[in-house]
Amino acid sequence: MKVSVVGGGGLVGSMAAYALHLGRVASDIAIVDANEQVAQGVALDILQGTSLVADQRVVSGPIQEQIPDSDVVVVTAGLRRKPEESRLDLINRNTDLFLDLLAKLRQAGWKPGATLVVVSNPVDILTHLAVERSGLDWRHVIGLGTQLDTARLNSHLARRLKVPATQVRALLLGEHGDSMVPIWSSATVAGMPLAQWPGYNAQMEKEVFEETKTAGATMIKLKGGSGFAVGVSIREVVESILLDSRKVLPVSTLQQGLYGLHDICLSVPTVLGAGGAMAQVEVSLAPREQVALHNSARVLKETLDMVRTRLASGRSSAPSATPAAPVTRPAEGQRVIPRSTWQPSR
Ligand SMILES: NC(=O)c1ccc[n+]([C@@H]2O[C@H](COP(=O)([O-])OP(=O)(O)OC[C@H]3O[C@@H](n4cnc5c(N)ncnc54)[C@H](O)[C@@H]3O)[C@@H](O)[C@H]2O)c1
Repeated sequence: MKVSVVGGGGLVGSMAAYALHLGRVASDIAIVDANEQVAQGVALDILQGTSLVADQRVVSGPIQEQIPDSDVVVVTAGLRRKPEESRLDLINRNTDLFLDLLAKLRQAGWKPGATLVVVSNPVDILTHLAVERSGLDWRHVIGLGTQLDTARLNSHLARRLKVPATQVRALLLGEHGDSMVPIWSSATVAGMPLAQWPGYNAQMEKEVFEETKTAGATMIKLKGGSGFAVGVSIREVVESILLDSRKVLPVSTLQQGLYGLHDICLSVPTVLGAGGAMAQVEVSLAPREQVALHNSARVLKETLDMVRTRLASGRSSAPSATPAAPVTRPAEGQRVIPRSTWQPSR
């Protein structure tokens, strides 16, 4: 099974490719990047370890060569914020880059049954645009969503509680960004309720959530950006698809009505397998969690509206790809909460 990483020359893409290499599930890994020399270097570097790790073919090359036989295409290509640049300007520049890339991916042609995994930010918005413009069925368009945030939350909780990280199970749903929603009501340690775990308290809950929300900014400050944890987060998503494991993961997909959500991509527990997003799962949430999830959807819809307005005005530099069947319906009278503080969570 082949995985192509578009943007694979960058920090996130190269870490994802390396994590996939160590995972030994993909038989072929392709590194695609606008910087062809770096792509070649990353591919060669990983290839040189294959004799110790796995019988994989690792190559680099252009979109038109690598995409048509890829089972999974991971897009991590993105831009970093310039000094003095507003958050909306960064969203706009990344959207233009993504739409341009999407048109090229579509032109290259998808392998039947292929799944696109969107990682670039703003991930929920770009996932939505990919559902509309990639030509793929919505089930085969997956955003990394709150997968990394959830990994961070569990790891930080484990460190505080001094328990094994793999035995902590708490979810973050909604937007990969400031409005993400911690689901404390179903959190467990070793199968027992987190709320009753010795040493756990409301103050810890608050602090760990804050640590998780600011983790991306912390990574930028300390080492220039997230790499290792996002790499293994991507690997878990890709491997569940390649192996048809049907893991239930918090990834971003087009909502179909569960939790009262539709017409927006955000993260809810989602069964991931060979068919892509094979099911979205609704579990009962605490009332405040339900409200927060709806707020997250409204926040995202407002950003999506701003992006769409600009695209419709022709101010985008991206080519106007032929949209697939429209997936939007009127917002059913939902009140839009102004959103002035979007931050890309990396
Ligand atoms: N969803 C998440 O959880 C999550 C987490 C971390 C980072 N991210 C996002 O991932 C993206 C990449 O971050 P990074 O730190 O790797 O950035 P980076 O600058 O290190 O890498 C980006 C790469 O994309 C390449 N690129 C740019 N335009 C391209 C194009 N048109 N075609 C092919 N390649 C192109 C660049 O050459 C570069 O190698 C950003 O948008 C970031 O916000 C998302």
